Amino acid sequence: MLGNFTYCNPTKLYFGEDSLSNLKTELKKYGTNVVLVYGGGSIKKNGIYDQVMAILNEEGKNVAEIAGVMPNPTVEKLYEGVEIARKHNVDILLAVGGGSVCDYAKAVSVSVNCDEDPWEKYYIKFEEPTCETIPVGCVLTMVGTGSEMNAGSVITNHKEKLKVGHVFADEKIMPRFSILNPRYTMTLPHYQMVSGIYDIFNHICEQYFSGEDDNTSDYISEGLMKSVINSSRIANKNPQDYEARSNIMWTATWALNTLVAKAKSTDWMVHMLGQSAGACTDATHGMTLAAVSLPYYKHIMPYGLPKFVRFAENVWNVNPDGKTDEQIALEGLSLMEDWMKELGLVMNLTDLGATEEMIPDLVKGTFIMTGGYKKLDKEEIEQIFRESLKK
Ligand code: NZQ
Ligand code: ZN
Repeated sequence: MLGNFTYCNPTKLYFGEDSLSNLKTELKKYGTNVVLVYGGGSIKKNGIYDQVMAILNEEGKNVAEIAGVMPNPTVEKLYEGVEIARKHNVDILLAVGGGSVCDYAKAVSVSVNCDEDPWEKYYIKFEEPTCETIPVGCVLTMVGTGSEMNAGSVITNHKEKLKVGHVFADEKIMPRFSILNPRYTMTLPHYQMVSGIYDIFNHICEQYFSGEDDNTSDYISEGLMKSVINSSRIANKNPQDYEARSNIMWTATWALNTLVAKAKSTDWMVHMLGQSAGACTDATHGMTLAAVSLPYYKHIMPYGLPKFVRFAENVWNVNPDGKTDEQIALEGLSLMEDWMKELGLVMNLTDLGATEEMIPDLVKGTFIMTGGYKKLDKEEIEQIFRESLKK
């Protein structure tokens, strides 16, 4: 465990089938003016909207709504929501939905009292808020991003063909509380469920595939990966399996609440490639990661071989006897590929709407990170995108 770090995560979590009952207690801590933030309507169909509204009414809250937050929320939608929140003199933003809704609520939180253009300030210049921010609370309905317990907020600008994530430094931007009821995730379509599962797995990979020191974070990561693999196989066969869905929900939170990044340089290149693909195609986040992962990991494997060997042995139970390190590492990636196919993930960018003509924009929109085993150059990024298209 090398390096210096600070760990602080102030988000209060309420987990389980009865967790929504705690919303009452939480709401009492804030003023009357609540802005309820939600997506395209799933919460109205599955009854979560009515349950939340009943509590808001019981507590005498004055509620305004920002509805229709789309997957991969856009900068235009952000401007619209900021106006609603300002007019309502908002005391707390209550996000009810998936990562898109939670991320979006954080973006509104840092923008309501900001005189500058939030896109420029937070997503181009990566500045921190200099204004007072609005508290955010979450009721999570889709599992994967970890947004319920982190300070990340991803916004898409289609005109600029950029999808940018800002992980705010100030823990005040993390949700003050998050309500995690695994039952709420049961109405997710299979496509979204498995996309979220791969998002979880990849978040862990992004942090695991960096560094050479003996680091406690890596042991925690291996445990989390094994749990996701096990529960995902159960949930894939029976999405109504509460135990599996609850394990998936809890793993998602720990995969990206900063714990397993401690004392790690972290990679995040799969996310940079995936987000660029998302900016060009508007595809589902986890699927963009699935489509670029194997070309990327095969490309960097020689530069981080000991870690790929450890991954194969400790996560995928590869028997190393009589095999070279390269063979062991490749067998690990091959088992990972089998698992991804078993879940029904999209394994190439073509099926997500990407074309060869998009490659210059895809390359241009990819931020290059330096914490992984190989700092990619533009040619390598292009090569990985080409390999991610359907053969
Ligand atoms: O909009 P509605 O109608 O609610 O439908 C949503 C949406 O279409 C649906 N859904 C959510 N809960 C449901 C449900 N449908 C039925 N039953 C339910 N219980 O699922 C669809 C996808 O929702 P979304 O919130 O977009 O998914 P996700 O949670 O994967 O969030 C994706 C966004 O988070 C960002 C991504 O880039 C993307 O913009 N990320 C945020 C991160 C963070 N804050 O740290 C990190 C991640 O790597 C990621 O980049
Ligand atoms: Zn992700």
